[in-house]
Amino acid sequence: MSASTTGTVRGAIDAAAVRLAAARIDTARLDARVLMAHVMERDQAWLIGHGDEQLPYYARARYEELAARRADREPIAYLTGVREFWSLDLSVTPDTLIPRPDSEALVETALEIAWTDKLRILDLGTGSGCLLLAILTERRCAQGLGIDINEGAVRIAEQNARTLGLSNRARFRAGTWATTSPMAKEERFDLVVSNPPYIPDRDIAGLAPDVRAFEPLGALSGGRDGLEAYREIAAHLQDLIVPDGYFIGEFGLGQDLAVGQILHAAGLQVIGFRADVAGRERCVIARRDD
Ligand SMILES: C[S@@+](CC[C@H](N)C(=O)[O-])C[C@H]1O[C@@H](n2cnc3c(N)ncnc32)[C@H](O)[C@@H]1O
Repeated sequence: MSASTTGTVRGAIDAAAVRLAAARIDTARLDARVLMAHVMERDQAWLIGHGDEQLPYYARARYEELAARRADREPIAYLTGVREFWSLDLSVTPDTLIPRPDSEALVETALEIAWTDKLRILDLGTGSGCLLLAILTERRCAQGLGIDINEGAVRIAEQNARTLGLSNRARFRAGTWATTSPMAKEERFDLVVSNPPYIPDRDIAGLAPDVRAFEPLGALSGGRDGLEAYREIAAHLQDLIVPDGYFIGEFGLGQDLAVGQILHAAGLQVIGFRADVAGRERCVIARRDD
């Protein structure tokens, strides 16, 4: 860094980008810019015209702290507290999985199936509420319930619903797959969606450090073969879905046949699968036929 840029916005970004690159972060410069925009409470466009400005002292200290945490692999979304999903800005914390672009395939599938507005939707393992809230923004008369074992996640999902003006149609509750069964006595759903934990235990150690060390293990770990959550969820679906209602679930690479078998054994008709952008099956669609 030249002496003339020391203390400026651009100088700080350059220094952070070097530090992040040294920590082998592929998106070093982008991350350095995102963190600066966050600290300055501005958007990316602001950075272009203000590179020569001096960074206030408080902003410098905050920026250096965040850059150091990023160098230690803390995900950008946890540092800024926000992640975009389905063009919605969602709050995230270490209690919630960071919503992945891959999961937008589940939302697209749900919207193709959920052609009527007056839907009752259940989201099992709602996390930040991303799936349910994305569907509700597109189906204006639909309403839904999100369930998660993690109470911190439930609070964030509620906060996201409030921010998006969806609190009147989205409810959230702390609970487990198992506690959904008694719930079926109270209400049933036209559509159940879920992105359950599906990573086999043996694969957890090989995950990227950003994921393994920071995202909640309870959102990742699917047990010995990755399918334990699917087995538990499948056992409740007949009770939770109305006749002719649908289940749409996301699963991991190569789990399509096993997930299809689990749902078939639970009495659902497997209608098909949906691939992600790379052409790999990632979503199952099943129907309750009576
Ligand atoms: C893969 S994350 C998905 C989060 C969010 N739906 C998304 O797509 O980003 C799985 C979620 O299931 C929740 N979960 C794990 N075990 C559960 C259980 N037994 N009952 C209810 N929720 C559970 C986790 O806390 C986590 O939020």
